[in-house]
Amino acid sequence: MDNLLRVRLVIALVASLMIGVAACSSDKYQNIKPVSTDTSSCKTANMSFVTDIRPILEAECDGCHSTANSGAGGGIVLDNYNAVKSLGTSIQNRVSLPNSDASFMPKGGSSIGTCKIDKIRAWINQGSNP
Ligand code: HEC
Repeated sequence: MDNLLRVRLVIALVASLMIGVAACSSDKYQNIKPVSTDTSSCKTANMSFVTDIRPILEAECDGCHSTANSGAGGGIVLDNYNAVKSLGTSIQNRVSLPNSDASFMPKGGSSIGTCKIDKIRAWINQGSNP
């Protein structure tokens, strides 16, 4: 192999290495998804007890706080508008606690999640509409 051929081979090798490195470093960013700025997926406007709040409590709390099951919930019933309206702040506080807290609700369960908590907070701030 003469020297010129050797130099050409080295140049070809270095060039293909550089292309390879460039391809890899751009690949690295291809799968990163843009951060979502959409906060509208949790609807909190015009909350009503019947349409928005009661279904949350029915799914998450009726096991202990319906009229039939209230024995398991310390006699506290959360299946009617007046009861829930008067306990609104207490409900909001308890579902917002860390689940390691003795007062956390749902008792012994896992968090109802930020969207449902936000809906309860919005409902109270909007005047606890029926
Ligand atoms: C496994 C049963 C159980 C479940 C499920 C449960 N609770 Fe309770 N809850 C209790 C018991 C027992 C008490 C009474 C003891 C206490 O105050 O911690 C109570 C008390 C409460 C109180 C206190 C009322 C007051 O007088 O201030 C609120 C508010 C409450 N629960 C809300 C909820 C909400 C909201 C959910 C659903 C997200 C829920 N609970 C789910 C058992 C439960």
